[in-house]
Amino acid sequence: MEITQLETNKREKTKLILSKINNFVSLSPFKSEMLSVLNAPDCDMRKIRLLISKDPALTIKVLSIANSPFYGLTREVSTLDHAVLLVGFDNLKSIVTALIMMDMFKNKNDSYLNHSDFWIHSLITASIGKRFAEDIEFENPEKVFIAGLLHDLGIPIMHKYFHSDFINIYKSAEDQDMSFIEAEKYYLGYDHQEIAAYLLNSWNLPESLSEAVGNHHDTRAMIGKNKMYSIVYLADYMATRVGMGNCFWDEKNKINEDVLKYLGFTSLSEVDHIIGIYNVMIEKEINALRFN
Ligand SMILES: [Fe+2]
Ligand SMILES: [Fe+2]
Repeated sequence: MEITQLETNKREKTKLILSKINNFVSLSPFKSEMLSVLNAPDCDMRKIRLLISKDPALTIKVLSIANSPFYGLTREVSTLDHAVLLVGFDNLKSIVTALIMMDMFKNKNDSYLNHSDFWIHSLITASIGKRFAEDIEFENPEKVFIAGLLHDLGIPIMHKYFHSDFINIYKSAEDQDMSFIEAEKYYLGYDHQEIAAYLLNSWNLPESLSEAVGNHHDTRAMIGKNKMYSIVYLADYMATRVGMGNCFWDEKNKINEDVLKYLGFTSLSEVDHIIGIYNVMIEKEINALRFN
């Protein structure tokens, strides 16, 4: 009984902080303008292109995504005009929105979280998810890409706004027989899935996106539902096994066999085989991804 009350108190405290985060976020006037242009009904390709070109860091990220081996573009994309043309209007809008969000919650690197590692893990999950979605002819690979990019957004949010809890979570997961997600629940009453989903909902993003992000470790919630959820789950597992970008928060995760069956796999060795193929492709391009 006492534990339940303690859990409730932790959840209430965490929820209170989450409800204030949108007020804490200091978005530069430029990024605010960018978000309002992206969400305006008259948003067009020319306006987006113009705004991206004013931000060199964003330009580099868009080019890096367009050149990611899994994004599936056959030619090298060296200019923003080219990227805009090949990636397409709707995809570009979603990618830029996701990149701004990831940037919003970026904190200073410290010994508990390195944002370059976080970025690499997010981009590899997004890229593998999109590629796998295409391979199984899932109808919307681009949505998988965005969900993959944002799936662990709760991690930098915890690092930035619940920093002392994050340190405790990190140490508990490192020292004890506890997964990172169990430690999150223990200290915050929430886990990184719920934290990201809470904020994505507060920004009125599509429900399918917040659900994919909000359940990406919850295997019971994904079977029988939209395949996007289980594809993001699998992509996250594969990205962790690829071993690029230190994603310590995912390292104790095991793959669920029922989800594999749901996605059409008959054995774990089939998954390992695909990881091997993707790994070779990622290694070729990983240097291009090493920024941020
Ligand atoms: Fe996660
Ligand atoms: Fe992950």
